[in-house]
Amino acid sequence: MGFVLAAAGSAVGLGNIWKFPYITGVNGGGAFVLIYLVCIALVGLPVMAAEILLGRASQKSPVGAFRALGGGRWIVVGWLGVVCGFVILSYYSVVAGWALHYTWLSVTGQIVGLGPEGVGPVFNALFESNSLNLFWHVVFMILTIAVILGGVGRGIERWARILMPTLFGLMLILLANSFTMDGFAQGFDFVFGFHTENLTRAGVLEALGHAFFTLSLGMGAMLTYGSYLRKNDDIVSASVAISALDTALALTASLALFPIIFTFGMEPGAGPGLVFVSIPIALSQMAGGSFFSAVFFFLLVFAALTSAVSLLEVATSYLIDEKGWSRRKAALTAGGVIVVAGIPSALSGGTALFGSTFAATIGQGRNWFDTFDYLASNWLLPLGGLGIALFTAWRLDDAIRHRAFLEGTNLAIFYKVWLLLLKFVVPFGISLIFLHAIGVV
Ligand code: PHE
Repeated sequence: MGFVLAAAGSAVGLGNIWKFPYITGVNGGGAFVLIYLVCIALVGLPVMAAEILLGRASQKSPVGAFRALGGGRWIVVGWLGVVCGFVILSYYSVVAGWALHYTWLSVTGQIVGLGPEGVGPVFNALFESNSLNLFWHVVFMILTIAVILGGVGRGIERWARILMPTLFGLMLILLANSFTMDGFAQGFDFVFGFHTENLTRAGVLEALGHAFFTLSLGMGAMLTYGSYLRKNDDIVSASVAISALDTALALTASLALFPIIFTFGMEPGAGPGLVFVSIPIALSQMAGGSFFSAVFFFLLVFAALTSAVSLLEVATSYLIDEKGWSRRKAALTAGGVIVVAGIPSALSGGTALFGSTFAATIGQGRNWFDTFDYLASNWLLPLGGLGIALFTAWRLDDAIRHRAFLEGTNLAIFYKVWLLLLKFVVPFGISLIFLHAIGVV
């Protein structure tokens, strides 16, 4: 139970409530959602089981795991994961900082009651304020480091038991509220209608990348948590449970948000501010809006924190295992580097990172924050996942793999299907989407 909770805590985060609705909006809804769901089932799920298995079989963090399991050159997959952890947390923390700021605004009564016209400017003011972004980024990183320094928190586990179901419950209340809105049918159709006309090459890649991002896959976070898993725990049902929970929450969030957006005539493709403008509008119509708003953003911070902890834990356990550092030194150093690495993302507010050539190759004029997210989620995580799948399916000794899979599960019949997915479907699917994204197929 402890493992499932920790792994679910890693998976459920900003990815579900902030990022999924906003990229669904940018990518025009329906068809994007369908591809995302297919990626979760056919790519994410088998890779999750593989990652957890590698962690448990090796009892190591990513780099050590590949070495221990006969990795040789495969060790680069572990390295890639550590780098990815740094990159993702550097901007993740900035967005988590927005949620902190909104918690503060809610508690002090500055957000609910502004009405549709007032909410947008509040977000823009935050988005453009360097000092606010920096301040909350640092606060959030301090929280994350503090949790890591306490060990992978037993305390936080106790809270997760209460707060995660509460978050789910609150999302369902918001969904019920959206159900009564004029824009519900339109919102529902946007998320579940099959709008292929809106789908781009970049959108397909983003659906794949987000399947990895939201399940915390491709960079060794699940591998690291898997190393804390016991022999009699069931990898298969844990993977299914975590993926199902994570997906259910993302879909609930989208179904709750888009009716608000259509009811109030907002732009579904508005970008990263989507949840920060739509939720306050919906809540201001509800009795006890200020209270619910504070609870919502607090829970969002908490969900982000349990994910951030898993991101920082990869870098920390690498330094402990490979360099022999103390946990304190490792967490403070890795955390400190991420605080600094996050500064450009905190300062972005719209400044272009690279020259126009680079911006043109990757789609739009992006800033640091977007660029980091784009590279890490859409390319590095699937690339890491590809490495994990290939290693597990083609390189890992079959006796070790088979035994590790069977331990603790009564779902042994899925072994062959799982292996088939890892051997062919996952590598082929990822390669195809990569090639599609760069216009080759
Ligand atoms: N899955 C987390 C979320 O959805 C983000 C994350 C990605 C965490 C990769 C760990 C590793 O918010």
